[in-house]
Amino acid sequence: MNLKDKRIVLTGAAGGMGSILARALLERGAKLAMVDANADALQSLATDLSEDAYPVAADLSSAEGCANAIKACQQHLGQVDMLINLAGLNGFVSFAEQDPAHIEIMMRVNVLAPMLLTRALLPSFLANNSGKIVNVGSVFGSIGFAWFATYSASKFGLRGFSEALRRELANTGVEVSYIAPRAVKTPMNDNAVMKMGEATGMNMDEPDAIVEKIIRAIEQDKKDSYFGFPEALFVRVNALLPRLVDKALAGQNKIAKTFLLK
Ligand SMILES: NC(=O)c1ccc[n+]([C@@H]2O[C@H](COP(=O)([O-])OP(=O)(O)OC[C@H]3O[C@@H](n4cnc5c(N)ncnc54)[C@H](OP(=O)(O)O)[C@@H]3O)[C@@H](O)[C@H]2O)c1
Repeated sequence: MNLKDKRIVLTGAAGGMGSILARALLERGAKLAMVDANADALQSLATDLSEDAYPVAADLSSAEGCANAIKACQQHLGQVDMLINLAGLNGFVSFAEQDPAHIEIMMRVNVLAPMLLTRALLPSFLANNSGKIVNVGSVFGSIGFAWFATYSASKFGLRGFSEALRRELANTGVEVSYIAPRAVKTPMNDNAVMKMGEATGMNMDEPDAIVEKIIRAIEQDKKDSYFGFPEALFVRVNALLPRLVDKALAGQNKIAKTFLLK
């Protein structure tokens, strides 16, 4: 897909990857409605970017927030050509001790919001017989990681939604793609995660490099993309031989546990 003049709703636009992705999309001639909960960061990003980047401050953790966000995006862009669901929340925590409110908000932002935003735009995509939904998941959406149970569950959900909807829309002009980076150096990963990542030898990519790969995946109309070796291979191994991966991760899980905040 050529991104020139495409009208795109980008969620999580003020975040570590979102701000870089917003710039990269504008460089390719796209017009953006940028959605994020962080109103200050969003406003300063919009000031830095061109008038083709319109800020929409919204909290996507509620159905009302999602509906209002889409309405504001449509009012600004008119017809929307693409939705990129990038907003997300992480949580490195023992599930036995995780605040139930944190579990709920993570599921809302990471999986329910992409579904509701898609639901809001899909009728107009179908009426035009064109449109693209890009869901940014994670390798954790294919391999469940200890101490990231809720995050993994949310990304498994997003991957399942993407796959099912892609099949449902197979005979239409509407495309669905799922993109799964491995760990990336952004503010999403706090100190505890960074230290745990170092101690366990977790590969961590630079956000600019991942954004370039996301853009390429969109331009090449990839249905799904998993970035990084050996993680992309482990995704396949885990699907076929999960007990083997249980054993392979056991040592890493023990080390990771020592970095959980008390
Ligand atoms: N970083 C990684 O290691 C990694 C790896 C694989 C996949 N991913 C995925 O990539 C995506 C982008 O991550 P990132 O690393 O760029 O994270 P980030 O820097 O934390 O950016 C995420 C953005 O989403 C926003 N957001 C959070 N809750 C929201 C809500 N309720 N309503 C609206 N916006 C909300 C955040 O705003 P606030 O700042 O106000 O919270 C933030 O600006 C996420 O879906 C993530 O799961 C990340």
